[in-house]
Amino acid sequence: MRRIIIDCDPGHDDAIAICLALAHKKQLKIEAVTTVAGNQTVEKITNNALKILDFLGEDIDVARGVSEPLVRELEIAMDNAHGDSGMDGPILPNSMKKVLKTNAIEHMAKIIRNSNEKITLVAIGPLTNIALLIKTFPDVKDKIEEISLMGGGIFNGNATSAAEFNIYVDPEAAKIVYESGIPIIMSGLDVTNKAYILKEEYQQIRNNGKVSNFVAELLDFYSKYGELHGYTGNAMHDACAVAYLLQPELFAYKDYHVDIITGDGARGKTLADTRPRPLKEPNAKVLLDINREKFVKLLFEAFEKLDEI
Ligand code: BDR
Ligand code: CA
Repeated sequence: MRRIIIDCDPGHDDAIAICLALAHKKQLKIEAVTTVAGNQTVEKITNNALKILDFLGEDIDVARGVSEPLVRELEIAMDNAHGDSGMDGPILPNSMKKVLKTNAIEHMAKIIRNSNEKITLVAIGPLTNIALLIKTFPDVKDKIEEISLMGGGIFNGNATSAAEFNIYVDPEAAKIVYESGIPIIMSGLDVTNKAYILKEEYQQIRNNGKVSNFVAELLDFYSKYGELHGYTGNAMHDACAVAYLLQPELFAYKDYHVDIITGDGARGKTLADTRPRPLKEPNAKVLLDINREKFVKLLFEAFEKLDEI
């Protein structure tokens, strides 16, 4: 059993990643959900996190994180990718749950320090909270098993031609995380653009139950962004960071040393040393390929399981 903290900015694919984790309680124990500004303001995405957990009947602590990147202005998701609420599409009732009084960074540190086992961080938004955790409480580093993150891309960008959104939003934070020495599993666009669900696939699950229906409504909205930008299907970026923890055999990867570019020319680029003899040791396991059919099956089975609860 892996103990995890999900640091997120829900976000359509964040919501789906949370569902995937919750459907696998024997393998993953979610100690907390923490929120970070990214797809929308931290107020909106914290509200979404609370609503998702309430909707799924889960009593998991939610702690609010930072509202701004470390040194830059917040740029929320481009082209209305996640809508005004950050999770447009399905209408969920307002949550009865309350956000914790403790902020995300202190709450993560408390969980990690009090745990007998190491904790895995699943980081599926900008890396601001995680960077602040490492800088403010450096003693917790040794008790972090791995960081399974969605961010970057060795050969691809989306926010710009050079950079993926999560890293683009807070490159200074990403640099701290990549240089921390904590093992990183990087689900970047190289793999996540291949981890898509087609419209004809999700139409088949629409009426299966309340969670499948929620997912279909999420994808009805989310698909507009993919269509606008010419992507195939609906890329389940954030779900890859959870899926790897459940079924690593679905993925092909390579270890690379990855630098984060913070200069404005290629702000947020994850620059991997792809030379045969790189000068530095690898700092990230970079996922490059996925068995898409098995991944979609894993997701659909997870939704079906949650439908029954
Ligand atoms: C990432 O950016 C966000 O819009 C998604 O939730 C995902 O974490 C993809 O680039
Ligand atoms: Ca996200």
